[in-house]
Amino acid sequence: MDHRARPFRSVLYIPGSKPRALEKAKTLAADAIIFDLEDAVAAEEKPAARMLLAETLAAGGYDPRACIVRINGFDTEWGDADLDAIAAIGPEAILLPKVNGPADVEALSARLDARPQTRETVIWAMMETPLGILNAAAIAAAPRMAGFVMGTNDLAKELGARSRTAMTTSLQICLLAARAHGLVCVDGVYNAFRDEEGLEAECAEGRDFGFDGKTLIHPAQIAIANAAFAPSQDELDLARRQIEAYEEALREGQGVAVVDGKIVENLHVDTARATLAKAQAIAALEAA
Ligand code: COA
Ligand code: MG
Repeated sequence: MDHRARPFRSVLYIPGSKPRALEKAKTLAADAIIFDLEDAVAAEEKPAARMLLAETLAAGGYDPRACIVRINGFDTEWGDADLDAIAAIGPEAILLPKVNGPADVEALSARLDARPQTRETVIWAMMETPLGILNAAAIAAAPRMAGFVMGTNDLAKELGARSRTAMTTSLQICLLAARAHGLVCVDGVYNAFRDEEGLEAECAEGRDFGFDGKTLIHPAQIAIANAAFAPSQDELDLARRQIEAYEEALREGQGVAVVDGKIVENLHVDTARATLAKAQAIAALEAA
């Protein structure tokens, strides 16, 4: 499936060190998986996790889910070895943590160019440092860039922020940069993974900000994110009626239509068509 046409409603982190979770993921309804070698894996487990993950990904079984690997940064002792083990397998994307500026992305892109590759692996960036947020537009424009993941736990730590409200500006700067450059943009994790109501509320908020989906830490969070970031029946129904009314208006020589007491111009029709296309992409993924 074309990376840019995919839904990314639910993006599940799996520690690269946990064989049971790696196996279980093949049956879960997540749109995408982030196989993690960074913060979910303890320092002493890193080499074993890297080997386990390389073998697991080479064996496959994750289709139609998008496979994204989060490697360690190149300022650590593990980053280059992670890339050596993972690049040749050709994951759909590599997620680089703690990106501060475009030079970090360029460094990964150059390393990918220098290695034999079976496919064009794209780059996703963790947006989780103050410098990274301030450089979001330049990072989004860097080579191979295709996605942003909000690293809200690291960001809260760096900012000294005690609430999600305190991170609103950072979230929106990243969304602006992502939209300006055509990237996917997914929201941060909800830590209280047994609190379904809290997750629902945060998914709804992220969706209304404009995120494509949410990063998740536990399988129980998947269905909630999938529902929140998919167009609802009401939205699909409205989209169809808007398109119909607008086409009718055009036939009558009018440039605008009115649906449910609200104006419908060509830009609203673009949104309506995008809503229908998203529902189709979701249906195609779920049928695969
Ligand atoms: N992906 C896939 N499967 C997962 C999973 C995940 N992220 N988290 C848990 N599971 C599996 C477990 O292996 C278990 O499978 P089983 O029924 O085959 O034994 C099942 O789901 C139930 O797990 P549960 O016992 O409820 O959770 P836990 O207490 O074992 O683990 C966490 C809770 C939070 C430690 C765990 O979910 C986790 O490690 N999440 C990912 C954390 C991460 O990647 N962080 C980095 C980014 S913030
Ligand atoms: Mg982080």
